[in-house]
Amino acid sequence: MLLPMYSRPSIAIDRGDGPYVYDTNGRRYLDFITGVGVNALGHNHPRITQVIAEQAARCIHTSNLYHHAYQKPLAEKLAQWAGLDSVFFTNSGSEAIETALKAAKARGKHHLIAVENSFHGRTMGSLSITGQPKYRKPFQPMLPGVDFIRPNCLDDLASAFRKETAAIIVEPVQGEGGIHILTAPFLLEAQRLARRYDALFIADEVQCGLGRTGTRFAYQRISGLQPDIVVTAKPLAAGLPLAATIFSHRAAEALAPGMHGSTFGGGPLACRVASEVLAIIDELLPDIRENAIYLRERLQELLTIYGVREIRTAGLMAAIQLNFSGAPLVEEAMRQGLLINCTHETTLRMLPPFTITRSQIDEACNILGSVVQAAQESGSVLAYL
Ligand SMILES: Cc1ncc(COP(=O)(O)O)c(C=O)c1O
Repeated sequence: MLLPMYSRPSIAIDRGDGPYVYDTNGRRYLDFITGVGVNALGHNHPRITQVIAEQAARCIHTSNLYHHAYQKPLAEKLAQWAGLDSVFFTNSGSEAIETALKAAKARGKHHLIAVENSFHGRTMGSLSITGQPKYRKPFQPMLPGVDFIRPNCLDDLASAFRKETAAIIVEPVQGEGGIHILTAPFLLEAQRLARRYDALFIADEVQCGLGRTGTRFAYQRISGLQPDIVVTAKPLAAGLPLAATIFSHRAAEALAPGMHGSTFGGGPLACRVASEVLAIIDELLPDIRENAIYLRERLQELLTIYGVREIRTAGLMAAIQLNFSGAPLVEEAMRQGLLINCTHETTLRMLPPFTITRSQIDEACNILGSVVQAAQESGSVLAYL
């Protein structure tokens, strides 16, 4: 039997087609959560399935004992996208964060600064810097030497840095935390202090990166911001496990050959697919920006018509803030053919695919409107609005 670690609805997904998935009974759902941001190109993108088929027939895995043709060009492309120098490949966001933490600690300092309400993963290192006590609590003690500061608080930043500080890690847009944007003054000051204290400025772009906010990386909306390390994963290989930690020379200087490694990380299938993903994302960036504006406008209508508490968006990341539990609304949306999820109990989160169209945004927003309205009419939530 399965370890009961997830609470899931009773449907089982059978297949996908663009922005839609179908369950085993043939029912269709508009997928606005995309495997938590992984299926950013939608399902079964023809260019991706073709590359997968070709490469699967040639070679899936080599291990990192040998070179193959696809790792280096992908590393060069990612480094170029991030304005950085070198890349280490792993299989998940958490592992890529671990890689960044090891690079920071290998420079001889141990103090880490992270932000409250952040999410960086479930391994012991990434969990230690995750700014939500509910995730850390059952697994104490955590890595020593981690301080959490309030998001966008310049005073906290000023008092957190010290000469032992190895790194500060931020999500430019907090995803799992409910789509909260870190401000330009906060991020620029974090970078300034990191440089002053010879610490690394690490951007966790696992959820907000690779086109999701309309630029290649979310930090690039802020001019003058250049992290020492950028961490990316989720949509990188269109659903095949692949993550990348992208370094400046300074950030990687303490990592000597043999100090880190991965059996699966950066195999030929995943890397070849990722190169195709990056090419497609670059083509989609103008559409992403345009559709992000439309999505925000349509969601704002929910605010005025149905009086939900707040709408937060950053590109194609969106949250509807409720004053009551979101879980029943997620269930009702699914019943009406829309997949979203709920984070922080009262926040509905959406990560629609980059290939979304206006009419599909309309379809989703109409369902959301009807779901919120139904919740109000049932009386169960009226009192809280
Ligand atoms: C910002 C961020 N960092 C790290 C992770 C961890 O990634 P993974 O679940 O692939 O280990 C996540 C996962 O949601 C994330 O959103």
